[in-house]
Amino acid sequence: MKKLHLFSLGLLSMSSLIISSCNDNKTTTATMETKTGITKAAFGETDGKEVFLYTLTNAKGTQVKITNYGGIVTSWVAADKDGKTSSIVLGFDSLSGYLAKPPYFGALIGRYGNRIAKGKFKLDSTEYTLATNNDANHLHGGNKGFDKVVWESSTSSDSTAVLVLSYTSKDMEEGYPGNLKVDVTYTLTDDDELKIEYNATTDKKTVLNLTNHSYFNLTGDVSNSVLDHNLTIDADRYTPVDKGLIPTGELKAVKGGPFDFTSVHKIGERIDSVEGGYDHNFVLNKTDSSLKLIATLSEDKTGRKLEVFTMEPGVQFYSGNFLDGSIKTSAGKPINKHGGLCLETQHFPDSPNQPSFPTTTLLPGQKYHTVTVYKLSVNK
Ligand code: GLA
Repeated sequence: MKKLHLFSLGLLSMSSLIISSCNDNKTTTATMETKTGITKAAFGETDGKEVFLYTLTNAKGTQVKITNYGGIVTSWVAADKDGKTSSIVLGFDSLSGYLAKPPYFGALIGRYGNRIAKGKFKLDSTEYTLATNNDANHLHGGNKGFDKVVWESSTSSDSTAVLVLSYTSKDMEEGYPGNLKVDVTYTLTDDDELKIEYNATTDKKTVLNLTNHSYFNLTGDVSNSVLDHNLTIDADRYTPVDKGLIPTGELKAVKGGPFDFTSVHKIGERIDSVEGGYDHNFVLNKTDSSLKLIATLSEDKTGRKLEVFTMEPGVQFYSGNFLDGSIKTSAGKPINKHGGLCLETQHFPDSPNQPSFPTTTLLPGQKYHTVTVYKLSVNK
């Protein structure tokens, strides 16, 4: 029997809001009491462990739901310019949707976001072999990456809703060396920022590249493709790839071509001249590891705008090219090609094999620390 426990955790305040929800084109409007803070509900069980769904609510009534299975952001419901609410990320209502292995919807990715060529890399003189789970290459941490494990969780909500997820990845798990302790802290602020802070330490030299794989569709309705979304990315260069999507090593200028998002362009405007669609790492112009605005995504009809801030040197812009309608939303709508897009902040793909790229090596005693913020707003 499905458990329906709801645990209330540190509810801060209550306010009355007009909530309209737009699911599968049906819009319902109701006056609802919203409680800022964080609640926890049972979400199922896997690997013999209980899985929970946390709901983070801020003073504006924006709600982000996150499960400790894979650290997945399952929904992010916010108002558009007319006050209608809908989720701006792709996701499911139940754990079973995720256990069916959708392509990393909303998930935390580790140990290595994106690809490592041939699933091999060397540290000092030791060669490590990883799963080749993407044709000849290794992708997103392997067969059972951080997106498919149950994380320990704890919450707090003194002023804002905070969810801390922790996972210890054992030495040689998925082929990676070192016992790695990872904490990921999700915070939803009253300014509609979803802040993701990653911290990690290892007891042996290893490689690490953590990210979040949320698919955004600012229309809030997956029947609309993202090709009409407007995008800017503060990157003068990108990393061209081979047929297996492994960087060639070149940092190529984007100027004047389809990868040039230094000024605003519709995603669909030049996509036909990019073989397979966008699935590329952009070399951000920022020159240090401070938290900077690196990309802005917007959608005219809803007025929604998403700004991406990161400490990372790169971002993988993936235009949902492999979505093909075979996966359906919980309401049964097919998720078609370009039904969502990802802006995965990261170090560059295949860095362990590319000495000229910023390093992804983590040493014992070093502290891995990186922050990414997705900030949502509405242009009225
Ligand atoms: C990343 C990759 C893509 C694809 C998706 C998941 O963004 O770069 O090639 O594998 O994940 O489908």
